[in-house]
Amino acid sequence: MDQLEQIKQAALKDLENLRDLATHELARVQHLGRGSKLSEFLRSLKDMTEDDRRKIGAAANDLRKEIEEKFTQAREKFSDATHSVRDWIDVTMPSRRPQRGHLHPLTIAQNTINNIFSAMGFRIIEGPEIETEFNNFDALNIPADHPARDMQDTFWLKKDERRRTKDEWPLLLRAHTSPMQIRFMQVHQPPFRIIVPGRVYRNEATDATHEFQFRQTEGLVVDRKGALGAPTLANLKGVLEYFFRQYFADPNVAVRFNASYFPFVEPGVEVLICGSKGKFAGKWIEVAGAGMVHQKVFEKVGYAHGEMQGFAFGMALERLVMLKHHIDDIRLFNESDLRFLKQFS
Ligand code: DAH
Repeated sequence: MDQLEQIKQAALKDLENLRDLATHELARVQHLGRGSKLSEFLRSLKDMTEDDRRKIGAAANDLRKEIEEKFTQAREKFSDATHSVRDWIDVTMPSRRPQRGHLHPLTIAQNTINNIFSAMGFRIIEGPEIETEFNNFDALNIPADHPARDMQDTFWLKKDERRRTKDEWPLLLRAHTSPMQIRFMQVHQPPFRIIVPGRVYRNEATDATHEFQFRQTEGLVVDRKGALGAPTLANLKGVLEYFFRQYFADPNVAVRFNASYFPFVEPGVEVLICGSKGKFAGKWIEVAGAGMVHQKVFEKVGYAHGEMQGFAFGMALERLVMLKHHIDDIRLFNESDLRFLKQFS
């Protein structure tokens, strides 16, 4: 019985000096483990007389239960979350990375386009998304009764909103970036080369290839007729060919012009490209409208008839990005679905 008392006192003393989970575990093994004095004592019971064994055995088992309970209680103190965190800090553990955003695929593509044209000496000009009927239609040689007005279904602003701006012309959401040709030429004299990236709006049903809001990039290059290097239809083709080869990173892109009609150019063309890789490998795909600026447009901005010569082009940004990255639904660009967007980070 003395021996049991000694074992008990030793255990109680160590229980008082526990500091953390590690010292707790050391002490627990020392006092209750297979090699502990208590275990040794319990093993020796079998060598005792039956009488002793009954008496001392019961006391020894009680003591084991008591010490086990004390260790269990002591452990709770240390397994408390705040305690274990304070006990030690793993300074080598990597910290949690902050979530980082990235540019939208259309922004990335527009930046690429801007860089390609910048390298060719183009200025990048932006304009308002709310336009006058004059800039969007009339000045571009699309009069009110012209069938070309049906080419775009227009979002018109309400009459009272027009009046608030004191603008004489009805206002609308621009249906193309071409009205910036007018704004720019009204206040600049050739020679110049500009591109105009921006949003445009059309009142039409949405599906995999149509959005009521999308983006275009307009191009305009003008110089005096007869000036050295005045822009020609051949120059237009060369500029677009260079651009598409750069944008699609495919030196084999070929450009073809099909005769077409846009009221603000004469002649007007549809631009088709055929590449050696990607979605348009070996296929002709329409990617832009273009042509030589109509003299009537020059007259509307105050240039004398026959004085200037230039070319213009316009293309939809989404269409180029969809071709380049094999995207089959234009609506993905505006859905903010991270599974789509993260592919472009
Ligand atoms: N504005 C035309 C459209 O939205 C595209 C276009 C065609 C622009 C011919 C041009 C051009 O500058 O010359 O469909």
